Amino acid sequence: MNNHTSSRPARIWDLPTRLFHVFLTVLFAALVVSGNLGGNALDWHARFGFAMFASILFRVVWGFVGGYWSRFLTFTPSPKNLWRYLFTSHPNSASHGAGYNPIGALSVYAFLFFLAAQIATGLIADDEIAFTGPLSHLVSNSLSLSATWYHKEVGKKILLLLVAVHIVAVLFHLYCKKNNLIRPMITGDKVLQMDTTVSNDGWRQRLLALIIAVACAGLVRMLISI
Ligand code: HEM
Ligand code: HEM
Repeated sequence: MNNHTSSRPARIWDLPTRLFHVFLTVLFAALVVSGNLGGNALDWHARFGFAMFASILFRVVWGFVGGYWSRFLTFTPSPKNLWRYLFTSHPNSASHGAGYNPIGALSVYAFLFFLAAQIATGLIADDEIAFTGPLSHLVSNSLSLSATWYHKEVGKKILLLLVAVHIVAVLFHLYCKKNNLIRPMITGDKVLQMDTTVSNDGWRQRLLALIIAVACAGLVRMLISI
């Protein structure tokens, strides 16, 4: 049927998810620079870290109540999906590729997990010179030192590797598969077939995102002053 083959721009990434990604990118760069500078820059490192904490909390909540394609349920990777994506042909039809592909979905979960681990270990870190994390008094000295070691030697490397692979993957899609994933992360839209489910991105939904973001910031503020 003609209707089945015709396509239109469909909202896939709602504005809150796109803004979250911008925050993530800017904060990550600021955290890597300030963390490596150390010394006085650590005050800023902690502030950026708290903002990252609030952003990750926001994204987790948004994974349940956000626009359709931002919800975890729409991109839960299963071995079956992964196998199908990697080893069977999936023609680049308009119906394909609305949300995350299974590898992209795995990488979202990996980012959320390792960013959370980096934040948690930062909060209880102690660099034994000038900086102690705001929650380090809640844990033993040896746990605090192990957390600092993880933060500086393990988590940092895993995250830098994930970001490098992420950017290479996006460029691979752009240049080798002729599939521009960057534009939809900016404009929100992909051209897909008419009956594709779209993400709700109206003003009520955006207001809800704002309320959740403010609540997450408030919660982080409360947690770090325990
Ligand atoms: C996702 C969030 C974070 C990222 C990506 C991140 C990244 C980094 C990096 C790259 C370093 C430099 C490691 C090195 O010296 O080689 C660092 C150091 C450090 N970070 Fe974070 N960090 C994050 C969150 C936090 C938070 C929330 C805190 C505490 C409030 C924190 C506290 C520290 C401390 C104490 C150091 C050690 C600095 C030193 O000894 O020179 N970080 N972090
Ligand atoms: C300039 C550098 C970057 C570019 C060009 C970029 C590009 C993209 C694109 C195109 C997507 C959508 C992927 C898809 O459609 O399958 C995406 C998603 C994502 N990226 Fe990036 N990215 C960058 C930096 C980063 C950094 C630094 C991080 C983490 C620290 C990151 C974490 C993520 C996450 C978690 C998602 C999923 C978004 C969500 O649903 O919340 N990205 N990125």
